Amino acid sequence: MRKADSRSFWDDRADEDAFFFVDNRLEYGHPDLERFWRGGEQDLDTLLGSLGVELDRSQSVVEIGCGVGRLTRVLARRAADVRALDVSERMVALAREHNPELGNVTWLLGDGESLEGVETASADACVSHVVFQHVPEPRITLGYVREIGRVLRPGGWAAFQVSNDPSIHRPRRGLARLRDAAKALLGRAPRGQSDPAWRGSAVDLDDLRGAAAEAGMTVERIEGAGTQYCLVLTRLAGT
Ligand SMILES: C[S@@+](CC[C@H](N)C(=O)[O-])C[C@H]1O[C@@H](n2cnc3c(N)ncnc32)[C@H](O)[C@@H]1O
Repeated sequence: MRKADSRSFWDDRADEDAFFFVDNRLEYGHPDLERFWRGGEQDLDTLLGSLGVELDRSQSVVEIGCGVGRLTRVLARRAADVRALDVSERMVALAREHNPELGNVTWLLGDGESLEGVETASADACVSHVVFQHVPEPRITLGYVREIGRVLRPGGWAAFQVSNDPSIHRPRRGLARLRDAAKALLGRAPRGQSDPAWRGSAVDLDDLRGAAAEAGMTVERIEGAGTQYCLVLTRLAGT
């Protein structure tokens, strides 16, 4: 899949119903925005709490796949500054629009494969939630892991979610898929559910450890191995 495909897929989803595609526990077409924004804090607490790390107000954070800024606004309260990156121009535009008060956030349009625009050894922490599970090829997620190692300062950590369950990424077949596709055409169900940029891919945890090691990081903790919500804590060597 080309980078441009990922961008155009997510730009289209942002125009269709950005809130639903960021958090598909919401009702399609009728998002409860209070629940949406509240969910950002809950999801960040689950990610960091499960991995046993906390942010402090002196830290510089990089967020990968910020969407409309659901977690970013919480990160901005807890850290010194945030660089929030996303492959979708439309998502980044919506993030700016919905979070005009965040003076310590820099919104970055990413290339879908790297952290270009983030300086080497400039971050104390990296965070990513429900992004890599949508990335269509594991090699792209592993490339991001190496990039995390590049942008972290010595001793810095990264807390992120990947899928480690290949079964959920297989193409759907049969009548249920046809029925959902027909409903989507009529605007009654989400589009793009069979697209590789939504279906995503799982990463192998040994491959992930290998990519982390190449970037000078150790995988310190893994929670939820074998599932779609596999949480990973890596740390760059040094103090
Ligand atoms: C399900 S949303 C989650 C957004 C945010 N992390 C949250 O939890 O609120 C996934 C986001 O990842 C972005 N994304 C998908 N593939 C990406 C990639 N290869 N690089 C950077 N961002 C990506 C999408 O544009 C979308 O905004």
